[in-house]
Amino acid sequence: MSKLTDSPAWRALAEHQRHIAPLQMHDLFAADHGRAKRYSLEFGAIYLDYSRHRITDDTLRLLFELARQANVGAWIERMFSGEHVNNSENRAALHVALRADQERFPTAGSEGTSDVMPDVMLMVRAARARAYALADALRAGSISGATGKPLCHIVNLGVGGSDLGPRLLSRAMRCQSDSSLTLRFAANADPADLDAALAGLDPERTLFIIASKTFTTVETLSNARRARAWLAASLGDAPELSAHFAAVTADEAKAHAWGVPAERIFPMWDWVGGRFSMWSSVGLAAVIAAGPAHFDSLLAGARAMDAHFREAPLERNMPVILALLSVWYSAFFGAETHALLPYLEDLRDFPAWAQQLQMESNGKGVDRDGQPVDYPTAPVIWGSSGTLSQHSFHQLLHQGTRLVPADFIVPCSGDSDAAAQHLLIVNALAQGSALMTGAAAAEPYRVLPGNKPSSTILIDKLEPHALGQLLALYEHKVVAEAALLNINPFDQWGVEFGKSVAQSIERGQQTEQLDASTQSLLSRIEPWRH
Ligand code: F6P
Repeated sequence: MSKLTDSPAWRALAEHQRHIAPLQMHDLFAADHGRAKRYSLEFGAIYLDYSRHRITDDTLRLLFELARQANVGAWIERMFSGEHVNNSENRAALHVALRADQERFPTAGSEGTSDVMPDVMLMVRAARARAYALADALRAGSISGATGKPLCHIVNLGVGGSDLGPRLLSRAMRCQSDSSLTLRFAANADPADLDAALAGLDPERTLFIIASKTFTTVETLSNARRARAWLAASLGDAPELSAHFAAVTADEAKAHAWGVPAERIFPMWDWVGGRFSMWSSVGLAAVIAAGPAHFDSLLAGARAMDAHFREAPLERNMPVILALLSVWYSAFFGAETHALLPYLEDLRDFPAWAQQLQMESNGKGVDRDGQPVDYPTAPVIWGSSGTLSQHSFHQLLHQGTRLVPADFIVPCSGDSDAAAQHLLIVNALAQGSALMTGAAAAEPYRVLPGNKPSSTILIDKLEPHALGQLLALYEHKVVAEAALLNINPFDQWGVEFGKSVAQSIERGQQTEQLDASTQSLLSRIEPWRH
């Protein structure tokens, strides 16, 4: 057994789970009329009801004991103070600095930093000011392309954290966005993705944002090459085409060598992970669409959640509670997956963003000390917007054989049709209730067993400040989960090997070293390629 699974808190939870597994949630509610209120927590615009879970007061006591044993509070402080919590890459993880407003963060020589961190706030503010200036100029129509026409079609070229975050923000801030600007995203190596993004756009008015922290991601560079070819086909291949590009990257030299003008290159830093980077200039597409003022409001919301995460006691700490529930089901109930159900179409990109956030962060097999883990780490994260999910996979949630904890995310007011909005809310609440209560029936195929756990997150209205709180909540949940599991959430070595294999196949190198299946498949494909 590992240090963790042999620890007092872990062993106590394992014993407790055996006792609590047979309990029915509806009985727990019947025995405690105050349960719903007691197991709810409100911070800012977020109301979390975690009463529909297979927990009792004893469960929570033992879970918080696990959090104390894991020194979750200390890990939070270490991250905020700029320590190199990304131990395999010897880096800090300071995405919280991207939305901080204090003068210095952290001050050079902060306790625990292994080197003197430059004052990151100077770098963050300077980059943000430049991004805001570009956004304001584009929104004013005062940025022109090679032929002198104002640029108003914006295409973000990026993948993973350089796509999912800005894509989510842009759609979630649709109501705050300038409809005179067209915003598109292309991420896939599949040329069809960029082709679809370019459909109907005017090359003379199109700006491409090449978003790539490393500026080496083959999909993004392929799309950037094709974007330039698309421009050249209409405008001629002239140096002036560089007016149609901007870049967001940690490798400014590569972007400049590619042909992006220096004044259009916006920095990222190695102390911000790609999946945590949308608060930086990676969010440029959203800044352009929604405007700096709304982006500032988004940052302020995330900043508020940062303060909550850093200051709230564990028992009243929203990200910590979500993380404890995640570990409770994955490690002690054997739940393999976790469903995210945002009941708002403008949050339809939320599950995909959260997938990378949690699965690329916590989909690990060794602990911080490099020891193989003997416990489950990240669950598989999946989901879709409601009410669409009800017509796709809720059958499995209600009557399937698997335990799938779910998060219902329910904005309660909006600017659209109030009756339709109410329909959405009613469905979300009904689904969570039905999952918990189940339904008896004479025919076995009509029986819903119930006792299916879910959290319900109510948001007054999904405006940028609340959106910032919600997204930071899930970022911090992932960090807290990693602390509980003693893993590093900030590296992603597992995705590097596949890239190198792809590169060797593409270059026709060392095919004899490839596995027999890949060699056989390559030989089968060969005739089709010509
Ligand atoms: O998926 C691997 C990964 O490195 C992610 O962590 C990152 O968000 C994505 O690829 C894109 O990387 P880049 O921003 O360097 O192009």
